[in-house]
Amino acid sequence: MSDPHTYPTRAAAMEAADDEPLSPVAGDTIGDVIARRYSRRDIMKGALGVTAATALFGPAALAASKAEAASVGDRFSFDEVAAGANEYHHVAEGYDAKVLLSWGDPVCADVQDKPFDPRTLTAEEQEYRFGYNNDYIAYFPIDGSSEHGLLCINHEYTNEELMFPGLGRDQSDSNFRETTKEIANIEMAAVGVTVVEVRKVNDKWEVVHGDRNRRITLNTEMTIDGDAAGTARMKTREDSTGKRVFGTFSNCAGGKTPWGTYLTAEENIHGGFWTEELDANFKPDVDHDGKYKASYKRYRIPTRWQSWGKYHKRFNFDEEENEPNRFGWIVEIDPEERESVPVKHTALGRFFHEGAETTLSNDGRAVVFSGDDAQNEYVYRFVSRDHYIKGNKAHNATLLEHGTLSVAQFSSEGTGKWIPLKYGEGKLAKACSAGKFENQADVLIDARLAADEVGATKMDRPEDVQPNEETRRVYVMLTNNTKRNAGTVDAANPRPNNKFGHIIEMIPDGGDFGADTFTWNILVRCGDPTKMELGAYWNAATTEDSWFVSPDNATVDPEGRLWIATDQGKYWQQTGRADGLFALETEGIRRGTPRMFFRVPMGAELCGPCFTPDGKTLFLSVQHPGADGVDGYANFKGPSVFENPATRWPDFDPKMPPRPSVMVITHPDGKEIG
Ligand code: FEO
Ligand code: CA
Ligand code: CA
Repeated sequence: MSDPHTYPTRAAAMEAADDEPLSPVAGDTIGDVIARRYSRRDIMKGALGVTAATALFGPAALAASKAEAASVGDRFSFDEVAAGANEYHHVAEGYDAKVLLSWGDPVCADVQDKPFDPRTLTAEEQEYRFGYNNDYIAYFPIDGSSEHGLLCINHEYTNEELMFPGLGRDQSDSNFRETTKEIANIEMAAVGVTVVEVRKVNDKWEVVHGDRNRRITLNTEMTIDGDAAGTARMKTREDSTGKRVFGTFSNCAGGKTPWGTYLTAEENIHGGFWTEELDANFKPDVDHDGKYKASYKRYRIPTRWQSWGKYHKRFNFDEEENEPNRFGWIVEIDPEERESVPVKHTALGRFFHEGAETTLSNDGRAVVFSGDDAQNEYVYRFVSRDHYIKGNKAHNATLLEHGTLSVAQFSSEGTGKWIPLKYGEGKLAKACSAGKFENQADVLIDARLAADEVGATKMDRPEDVQPNEETRRVYVMLTNNTKRNAGTVDAANPRPNNKFGHIIEMIPDGGDFGADTFTWNILVRCGDPTKMELGAYWNAATTEDSWFVSPDNATVDPEGRLWIATDQGKYWQQTGRADGLFALETEGIRRGTPRMFFRVPMGAELCGPCFTPDGKTLFLSVQHPGADGVDGYANFKGPSVFENPATRWPDFDPKMPPRPSVMVITHPDGKEIG
């Protein structure tokens, strides 16, 4: 691979990165690899073990030859990127991948003329600059255009050690001694959401620095609606109404509603809350007592990943026990109204929401799917009480205020149902009469505890839950679960110590996303299919470069084809390949065949894949470059910190640390992506 230091400029390095050799789709398939490695007799006589053999594709598929695989096309035509890991990004041959926005770039006019320097950055400036760790992206066309629109982009969290000089790798060990109040305030301004106008001029996408742009941070005032709003558990010393809260954080994935608003999902909220009650290793050791002990334990509050509570009482759990109840929700933002007040919708439940992909039921109700991203947590769905009315913005703005939150139960027969979480009904009746929940507000604030009662299926870390409106099916990304063991495997989560994840396909009865029953199957089990012991499951046409692990985000392009973004974290060290974006065929005899389109630089994850309506532009988030698991990168001696990062992607400027960035991908011939 290229030596990063032999290029004089960022542009040269990035050009070179795009020129990395690619392996053509006509290369060896996994069927070939396995046929070489194991004889057909081995397979037939079961020498590989029944589990391994059936976990793959069955003897017939194993014997599929390259010629056979090549003779059947799938719906994608790009040449895949080679698997591997280095300091650069890589895109499929012939496509242009350009950086559109990076951490620190000006979003609002207030800082437009001031160069970005992380050494002198202030919290006030950060309020107007592009935030850190960009994640989910949604494109809102202006006047129906695929070349002019608003982008809404989440900023999930901050990596202080790469943002600021002089900060060690692990803040918790030093008890946050070096984290000043100004740094804490910069962090609080670097999370949340960016709304930014973009347009394509002379075949090049650019940011428009007009007055539509907006940053939403932990300091932005929001309202709260739904059954939990205004109740005692939502009131704090600073807010006696229980209906007003400042800001949002841990904004992971999200959604876009049919009525043109943006949904941002609050995920790992536990880390935002501080305590002084610590064990010898500076780990929170709060002796929970009182009525809501089970709730705080279930949501791991406080976990103290951030120092905010040292300087701001509302994030100090020792001082304010209710502020954590005001996070962990889905927040709706109207990107077209710069002065609009974002709303936290409690009807959609409180948990570690990965995303909020939104569609309509056959009778026109809003349907929002959401995974709770932690090991052994659940998959949720919200269906609105009222119906969507096309063009009636004021009415549609109320749809997420009332409705039914349900949780998924997957049966071993391949059927399943959505179980409603309603106070006093069904299995919750007993729990409610036992005093576990006093009203619907409790059920929503403690959605995890409510789901525990009703027999929901504990899943292998549910991430994005993606409906496909073309095929009327739903794809559930399950990223991993090392806590799954031989005693707890089930049909929907079949692998013990599941390090690499899988994808479930749900088929709603009657093709109705609002139906309460569904059938399901496993589309792929991720991992290296040549290692029989992993029990991976792919189409035999899968190549050695294209299999992936740890599915996180998914999207469906305008042709109805599925795309998967991966996030292995430190597990990349076990695959030796960086994360990326993969096309995944869901139809026909190549169903379950992936193909790698884009690969991230060292230590990053890929998120937020988002197509324009014409399918000709793809926006991607490259999150936390230089951060995750980089101690396993042979070309680098760590730790990866501001002064010595594992990569300086995308600037490759010795004075600039790596910067999380949004990339924009197009084809020079103007053809559709894929
Ligand atoms: Fe923030 Fe589940 O990834
Ligand atoms: Ca994610
Ligand atoms: Ca998605």
